[in-house]
Amino acid sequence: MKSVASFTAAVALLSGTTNAFWRMPCRERIGLMRLDPIVDPGTASSHGHTLHGGSNLQEETTYEMLRDSNCTSCQFEDDKSAYWTPSLHFIHENGKTEVVEQIGGMLAYYLLLGKDIKAFPKGFRMLAGDSRLRNFTGAVPDPPLAAWTEEDLTQFSLGQKSLGFNCLHYKKPAEGARYRHFLPTKDYMDENCADGIRAEIFFPSCWNGKDVDSDNHKDHMAYPNMIDGGVCPEGFDTRLPSLFYETIWNTQAFKDFPGQFVWSNGDPTGYGYHADFINGWDIDTLQSAVETCTDPSGKTEDCPVFSGALLSEPEMMQCKIESQPKILSNDDCAGPADGLCGNVPVQYGPAYAAALKPGDHAEPTVKPTLASSAAPVPTLSYASARSKGATDAYGGGISVYNVEETPAMPTLTSTSVSTSTSVEAEAETPAVTAAALADDAISSDDGIVSTSTYTSEGIVYEVAIKEIAVTVTVEAKRRRHAHMHRRDREHGLLGRH
Ligand SMILES: *[C@@H]1O[C@H](CO)[C@@H](O)[C@H](O)[C@H]1NC(C)=O
Ligand SMILES: *[C@@H]1O[C@H](CO)[C@@H](O)[C@H](O)[C@H]1NC(C)=O
Repeated sequence: MKSVASFTAAVALLSGTTNAFWRMPCRERIGLMRLDPIVDPGTASSHGHTLHGGSNLQEETTYEMLRDSNCTSCQFEDDKSAYWTPSLHFIHENGKTEVVEQIGGMLAYYLLLGKDIKAFPKGFRMLAGDSRLRNFTGAVPDPPLAAWTEEDLTQFSLGQKSLGFNCLHYKKPAEGARYRHFLPTKDYMDENCADGIRAEIFFPSCWNGKDVDSDNHKDHMAYPNMIDGGVCPEGFDTRLPSLFYETIWNTQAFKDFPGQFVWSNGDPTGYGYHADFINGWDIDTLQSAVETCTDPSGKTEDCPVFSGALLSEPEMMQCKIESQPKILSNDDCAGPADGLCGNVPVQYGPAYAAALKPGDHAEPTVKPTLASSAAPVPTLSYASARSKGATDAYGGGISVYNVEETPAMPTLTSTSVSTSTSVEAEAETPAVTAAALADDAISSDDGIVSTSTYTSEGIVYEVAIKEIAVTVTVEAKRRRHAHMHRRDREHGLLGRH
C-alpha cells in the first residue's frame, strides 16, 4: 500500500469547507452477463453488462436481497450495492467478437458535493446515460463553463456531458475527466492510447426527495448545473452522494488486429454509454460515511467508518454472482463468439437506436458486419487537463465543486451562468517527466496541491488533485443577482500496470 505525497496543501486550502470524497475500489466483476434488474427485471437483459458489488444480484433484485449478499467485489465488506455498466467488445474483421480485458475492476467515487448530503435510501436505484443515444448535440469540445448557454444546462445536455472516455497514455499528462464524450476510433486509440481507455460516467445527484425509482429510472433524479457540482434544479433539492464510475479497458491489446470496438449494447460511438446503481448499503452506515469520510485523500483506509471492514484484493476478487440465472446458461458474453451476447446488432447512429429486446435469445446467429466507414465521431486530439487550451481549467480531472455560500437560487433552466476561473493550484502525476510535457508546457508557477498514489496487485493508481477558486454569478430571470463562491478540487485518476 503506497501513498502518498502530502495533503497538507489541500487540507489548508480546503479548511472550512465540507468538500470530501471516497473512492470504492471494486477490484473484480462478479459477472459478465445479460443481467439488468433495473431495466429488464425478471428476465435476461437485452445486452451484456460488467457487474460489480453484492453477490446476490438476480433478474429481480430488492434491497433486502442485496443486503443478503454473501460477499461483495467492492472493498468495504458491508457495501452490497450493485454497480454495472456495458462491457467493451472487439469485433474482428471476420465478425468474431470478444470482450476487451478490463483492468483493475471498477472504481466507484462517492463525491460529497453540496450541503446536507443524505444517504441513498432503501430501495433506491437509478440509471445514468441513455443506451439508445448515438450522437452528441453540443459543441466539441465542451465550451468553458463561462460560455455555457441555457442549451448546455438542460438535463438532456448535462446527461450527454456526464460521460467520457479518456485516452490513457501514462507517459503524458492525463486528460481531464469527461473531456471526450465519445469513444475514439480504433485508429486513434491504436496510435495514441498506449494504456487503453477509461470510461467514466457521473450519476445525477439531485433527488426529488420521495421516489426511490421512477418509470425510466431517471426522472426521480436530476443533474446539478455543473454535473459534478453546482446547484440543483427546483424540485430536486435533496443532495445524495455524487456517484462516478471508472472502468479501464485494454484496447491496446487489439492494436495489430483489424476490426472495431463496440459497447455491449451495440454502440460503437460511446454516446450510448450508461450505468446503473442499486443501493445495497446499510443506510445508517452510509450516512455516517457521508458525515465522517472527509479525509481529502479519498482513501477508504482513511475513513474510520470503514475501518476493520476492508476486504483484501483476493477477497474482493473471489466474490462472484451467487446464482447465474438459468435463462442465461447459453450465453457467452466474453467470447470469442459469433456476435454480441443477446444477438445485439451494431447500431452506428446518428439516429436514436432501435430498442433492443430483453429475454431469451439463442446464441448469436448473425455475425455483426462492420460498416465501411467508422462510427460517426469527431476527432478530438489528446489534451492534457493542464493545457491552457479550449477546454479551460474545467477540463481537468474530476472537478469537485463545493458551494460555500448558496443564496436562494433561481431555477436552473432560466439562468445564465458566467464564470471567472482562476487556477490557484494544480496537481500533476509524479510519473510525468519534463520532456513528456514539452507540448503542454506547464509553467512552473502552477502550484501542486497534492498527488497520491496507491498500489494494489500490480496496478498503481494515482490521484491528482488540483484546486481552483471559481466565482459564479448567476443572473436570474427577474434580474436578481445571486453570487456563489466556489472552491473546486479536481481529482484525476489513473490506473496503470
Ligand atoms: C451464502 O451464505 C449462506 C449462509 O452461510 C449459505 O447457506 C449459502 O450457501 C451461501 N450461498 C452461496 C451461493 O454461497
Ligand atoms: C441525434 O440524437 C437525437 C436524440 O436521440 C435525435 O433526436 C436526433 O434525431 C439525432 N440526430 C440525427 C442527425 O439523427
